[in-house]
Amino acid sequence: MEWYRAHHRYLPWKQTGDPYKIWLSEIILQQTRVEQGEPYYLRFTERFPTVQDLAAAPLDEVLRLWQGLGYYSRARHLHSTAQQIVAEYGGRFPRSREALLKLKGIGAYTAAAIASFAFNEAVPAIDGNGYRILSRVFGMDEPVDTGAGKKLFAELAEELIPPAHPGDFNQALMDFGSLVCTPAKPLCADCPLSAGCYAFAHKSTGKFPVKSKRTAIRTRYFYYLFIRHKNSVFIRKRTEKDIWQGLYEFPLIETTGRVPTGKLVTNEKWAALFGDAPWKICRISGEIKHQLTHQTLYATFYTIDISKISPALQTGYLNISSSMLDSYSLPRLVTIFLEK
Ligand code: ADE
Repeated sequence: MEWYRAHHRYLPWKQTGDPYKIWLSEIILQQTRVEQGEPYYLRFTERFPTVQDLAAAPLDEVLRLWQGLGYYSRARHLHSTAQQIVAEYGGRFPRSREALLKLKGIGAYTAAAIASFAFNEAVPAIDGNGYRILSRVFGMDEPVDTGAGKKLFAELAEELIPPAHPGDFNQALMDFGSLVCTPAKPLCADCPLSAGCYAFAHKSTGKFPVKSKRTAIRTRYFYYLFIRHKNSVFIRKRTEKDIWQGLYEFPLIETTGRVPTGKLVTNEKWAALFGDAPWKICRISGEIKHQLTHQTLYATFYTIDISKISPALQTGYLNISSSMLDSYSLPRLVTIFLEK
């Protein structure tokens, strides 16, 4: 707490006691770095100053504002929870951790963060930073990604949290974890806790926090067909339960391995897409590597001109003017291609 008083970061969501804005910031900051999330937080609170504004907005607009943050299910849940709060709670956030937990998409961490930041409830909100700090300082080698491990860390934090300043305590863990007790190369020389820190004494900061499993990274190969017909292009909405649900993309051929240039046209999906209608490949992009948290995508964009619209394109895709592309929510990968 002393460290926090002297070194805390200025962050816009700390300036408010509004549970709606605190909730919004926490959803944005899940899986997103503070520097990346901050401009989104400012845009969202400007466009949707209250939970009613957010609930009343069309989902497409929320997704468009979310564009670039990834994990779009967060935006969909955000929107539907806002509607739930308006419909079932008269637009007022529940004022305790327990009641907050009943809301869709609000888990243990987020409920505790809102309860402590907005309502001063003395409950610990431990995110990745908290687990790292506590595991290092106390030498806790229980895995942080199991129910049993989380329970132990929660019990420890319950003992540590100062009843009068729970919000500052929780925020202090986050700031301290971001600025001092960092994942790689923590600044132990500047750390006020090093004298009592288990990991520092055992030169083992790299061993903490312990995880029970490493998430496997999946590799996928995407071949996007940027098909032009006069001044128009073809897109579709991704509706599958997969990455980028609700966003728009070009016709896609996904394969299990890399397809050599020239071979793609022999893929059965290519035939299904074009049928007998002629096509002309104008350009093939280099392979773009796109890293998501649990997936590595290797994407190649084929720019193709057609003079006749095949039945599959006609029925399965939206045919829009190229100049309208900007008004659709697109995955970051697709905008990277368009910018190039
Ligand atoms: N990450 C998640 N919530 C945060 C917060 N309130 N401040 C800084 N980083 C965070």
